[in-house]
Amino acid sequence: MQTNNHHTSACESFPKPSPEYQKHSDRLKALIQKKIMANGGRISFAEYMNYALYEPGLGYYSAGLKKFGKEGDFITAPEMSPFFSQCLALQCLEIMRKTGQKTLLEVGAGSGIMAIELLLELQKRHYLPDQYLILELSAELRDRQQKAIQTRIPELYERIQWLDQLPEKPFSGIVLANELLDAMPVHIIKLQQDTIYERYVALDDNKQFVWQDDEPENPRIRTIAQQINTIQQPFAHLNDKPNTPYISEINLLAGDWVKSIADRLIEGALLLIDYGYSAQEYYHPQRSMGTLMCHYQHHRHDDPFYLPGLQDITAHIDFSHIAHCAEEAGLKLCGFTTQAHFLMSGGLVELTKDLNPNDIIPFSEAARQIKMLTLPEEMGELFKVILLTKGKALSLSAFTPYNFQNRL
Ligand SMILES: C[S@@+](CC[C@H](N)C(=O)[O-])C[C@H]1O[C@@H](n2cnc3c(N)ncnc32)[C@H](O)[C@@H]1O
Repeated sequence: MQTNNHHTSACESFPKPSPEYQKHSDRLKALIQKKIMANGGRISFAEYMNYALYEPGLGYYSAGLKKFGKEGDFITAPEMSPFFSQCLALQCLEIMRKTGQKTLLEVGAGSGIMAIELLLELQKRHYLPDQYLILELSAELRDRQQKAIQTRIPELYERIQWLDQLPEKPFSGIVLANELLDAMPVHIIKLQQDTIYERYVALDDNKQFVWQDDEPENPRIRTIAQQINTIQQPFAHLNDKPNTPYISEINLLAGDWVKSIADRLIEGALLLIDYGYSAQEYYHPQRSMGTLMCHYQHHRHDDPFYLPGLQDITAHIDFSHIAHCAEEAGLKLCGFTTQAHFLMSGGLVELTKDLNPNDIIPFSEAARQIKMLTLPEEMGELFKVILLTKGKALSLSAFTPYNFQNRL
């Protein structure tokens, strides 16, 4: 068993929180410290991340912080530009036409902006769904979504229904989620000289959070870590320094979530958008420090113990694992592409064809948004879209001709 101090030097230059926010974070920190002590001195990182993001009233997503947008900590594609949700609307329209399904379920709806823009686009095209369901874990965000929808599209409010959990009864329809899977708590593993460790969260003598590396207790983590080790070992010699540890994440919840949707879905499709890679790229030897990332007031860093409750914590998605879990649960993998290809093939060109370059301000703002959504160094390449179906296989314009599903 190894205990490692962590350093927050990168965070020292960040803007300090207000005394009120500092107190908020201190309360959450005290709660997690108690949980660690009650659990015999350590908890898994997934448990830590769950408290830090979802502890009712205190966690990052459960408390009243701004989170999204310019004044928040990070910006998501639907917050960046309505074009994103409009393209998604066009793909939903294609699915509705092809399958006859007219129920949409959005999971993890953030500020509610994607639902608003998507429904406005479908309304414009006279193809509104019969029902738009939103499943949101955070009571605070649900409240924010309801207010935003009542203000922007009061005439459509009645069509929207909020759920606390997945529908009990099997249903048919389209399931949408943008940046949901990356917000699910992950376990962290460390491979060193053929030894597999799980990284737990413990306390040092000053009750500060520290990493504690020890054998994985959870047999599922052990099995997956062994598989990752098998991928890693042949490349270990490529590391610049011998015996460099290889750190990565395991997201059990994302695969379980896909399976739970598959169990409830009679017929329909899932469109999931998130940042991530195929397993081959995810577990590339060069990515030896993993993909865990934190966002605090638009500063990106890698210290998850910094100001719990005031910053976002996320990890990239292994889409091969998602595809594998989906197929095991009876879904069909019908598409995998980059966000840039998804948008460019899926309607962005048509949506922007009437923009007038002589209208300088709106034109340059639209150009800026399109660049952010599609350029490889912005969101275009890192973000991927996966299409899974239950029942019939589907071919959608957004995945034609650039469908990379055989990379998964
Ligand atoms: C990174 S935010 C993305 C928000 C929004 N989709 C967007 O793109 O702006 C993650 C969202 O997922 C929600 N969430 C996380 N886990 C969830 C779960 N298991 N079920 C439902 N919502 C969840 C969070 O509360 C939050 O609204």
